[in-house]
Amino acid sequence: MTTRILTGITTTGTPHLGNYAGAIRPAIVASQHSDADSFYFLADYHALIKCDDPLRIQRSRLEIAATWLAAGLDVNRVTFYRQSDIPEIPELTWLLTCVAAKGLLNRAHAYKASVDKNVETGEDPDAGITMGLYSYPVLMAADILMFNAHKVPVGRDQIQHVEMARDIGQRFNHLFGQGKEFFVMPEALIEESVATLPGLDGRKMSKSYDNTIPLFTSAKDMKEAISRIVTDSRAPGEAKDPGTSHLFTLYQAFATKAQAEEFRGELLQGIGWGEAKQRLFQLLDTELAEKRERYHQLIARPADLEDLLQVGAQKARKVATPFLNELREAVGLRSFREQVQVSSAAKKKTAKAARFVSFREDDGSFRFRLLAADGEQLLLSRNFADGKAAGAATKQLQSGAALDVRSEGNGFTVWLADACVGDSPEFADAPARDAAIEALKLALQPQQD
Ligand code: TRP
Repeated sequence: MTTRILTGITTTGTPHLGNYAGAIRPAIVASQHSDADSFYFLADYHALIKCDDPLRIQRSRLEIAATWLAAGLDVNRVTFYRQSDIPEIPELTWLLTCVAAKGLLNRAHAYKASVDKNVETGEDPDAGITMGLYSYPVLMAADILMFNAHKVPVGRDQIQHVEMARDIGQRFNHLFGQGKEFFVMPEALIEESVATLPGLDGRKMSKSYDNTIPLFTSAKDMKEAISRIVTDSRAPGEAKDPGTSHLFTLYQAFATKAQAEEFRGELLQGIGWGEAKQRLFQLLDTELAEKRERYHQLIARPADLEDLLQVGAQKARKVATPFLNELREAVGLRSFREQVQVSSAAKKKTAKAARFVSFREDDGSFRFRLLAADGEQLLLSRNFADGKAAGAATKQLQSGAALDVRSEGNGFTVWLADACVGDSPEFADAPARDAAIEALKLALQPQQD
């Protein structure tokens, strides 16, 4: 079975070396596993929560898209898209908002931190807090649940959000699933082995500390940043301690074991800090020079990037559109054409029984679906000229007479007196098809009262 891996990148900044080692590189490696079905996206709706500068939003989306592609993301293997190109996501957000408990969102760390800060400074508790910030976890739940992701690689600060997605998804399943689990329960994936890089000053590399090393802007910028890495005052010739040097930690994150060992030896033997920084630059430049080149080529052709992301959006919507239709049905947002015809006999039975749902096509013909107790569609009828003929067919199907079911590929057809009266959906494989045939037979057995 494939594992669906999904993660979003908020588009408010320019990726730096810490993002590369901590998120981009491991995500690309994960996407190369043969059983991985990866969905990576630009969380640009989330970016709007944190940033009201349109130019920065636009610039960041472009830079982040180019960075991922330059770093080696293969868009034929993964589904790479912008959140804002998938209208099903905000629509699902609303369905989820209507089941999410307010009390749950009150507990979100990011919202609580803002409230605490306001209280501390004597402000109104909700000063400067938007509904966007408050509802941030619901939007993120929609990102994850829309695609039924199994694993969600995130930083530690996001674990709570993934847990909330489970909570909200479970509640939806419970309220509307009638035994069917619409949503898979996602799990946060925290890669213990992934490097958290120290920044220039030794604290975690982060834009908010202003201690980052740029990734693809230019070799010169990178060199200049490296020259500002804080070291101790030991002179050339004096032994340096690799264990306390974050320059060494940075080196290790990009070196082979052998390279790291060699560098450790040189530090112990007293290589000067200036030369040590030169070594780090060389190592990074070897890994990044070609990718940097590709990055600048991509940034120079934004229209091509746009096309690529449109293809990604199409791929994503192939999953999202039918799934959202199912969810709309589940909550009662249904076409008036498909009113459930509840016969008085069926009314007596419990809601557990399979049911026929008849409807009329635009051309006036009559059709019906047979839905299993869990709502799964087992059969879609062919078109009947009038309601009487359709009714006769459903009656005959339930008469208890042996069913004429014919397997065709991963689906099947049902026949009455040598006329095909209905088709199954396409199932994933033959066992799924056979299970559905069994379910169909069971559903059509005459009910004993
Ligand atoms: N909130 C995440 C962050 O700031 C980004 C994000 C948005 C995300 N939607 C997501 C991550 C869905 C994983 C899954 O890092």
